[in-house]
Amino acid sequence: MSRNDEQPGVAQDLFQAARTAMGHAHAPYSHFPVGAALRGAGGGIFAGCNVENASYPEGWCAETSAIAALISAGETTITEILVMAQNKHKIVPCGGCRQRLAEFAGQDTPVHLCGQAGIAETVRLGDLLPRAFQLKDLT
Ligand code: THU
Repeated sequence: MSRNDEQPGVAQDLFQAARTAMGHAHAPYSHFPVGAALRGAGGGIFAGCNVENASYPEGWCAETSAIAALISAGETTITEILVMAQNKHKIVPCGGCRQRLAEFAGQDTPVHLCGQAGIAETVRLGDLLPRAFQLKDLT
C-alpha cells in the first residue's frame, strides 16, 4: 500500500493521472520519468509527461505537457497541481515550469510534490515562486 492509498481522497485522481502519464514519459537520455497533473477550474484533469529529444534543448517537462493539454482543452485556470518523479521520493517543479504554472494559477494554489509512493509534501505555488513575473508587469 502506498502512502497515497492511506490518504484516500487527497488528490487521488490527480495522482493516478500523473502516474499514468509518467508511465508514458519519453526520457531515454535522463532516465528520469516525470508526470504532472493539473485540475482545471471547470473540474477537468489534465496530465502530461516529460518528452526528451536527441537535440537536448528541444525536450520539455511534464508540467509543460500538462499545461498544453489544459490550454488545448479550453481551460484557463489551474486550481491544483501535482508533480511526480519515478526515481525520487519527491520532486519539485523546475524554475521554468514554476513560471509557466504561475501564468494560470494563483499564489495559493496547492502543489503536491510526489514520488511513486504518494504525496510527500504539499506547498503553495507562491512558496515556490514568490513575486512571479506576470502580465501586469508588462504594462
Ligand atoms: N523534468 C520535468 O519534467 N519536470 C521538472 O519540473 C523537472 C525536470 C524533466 C526534464 C527532463 O526530461 C528530466 O526531468 C531531467 O531533468
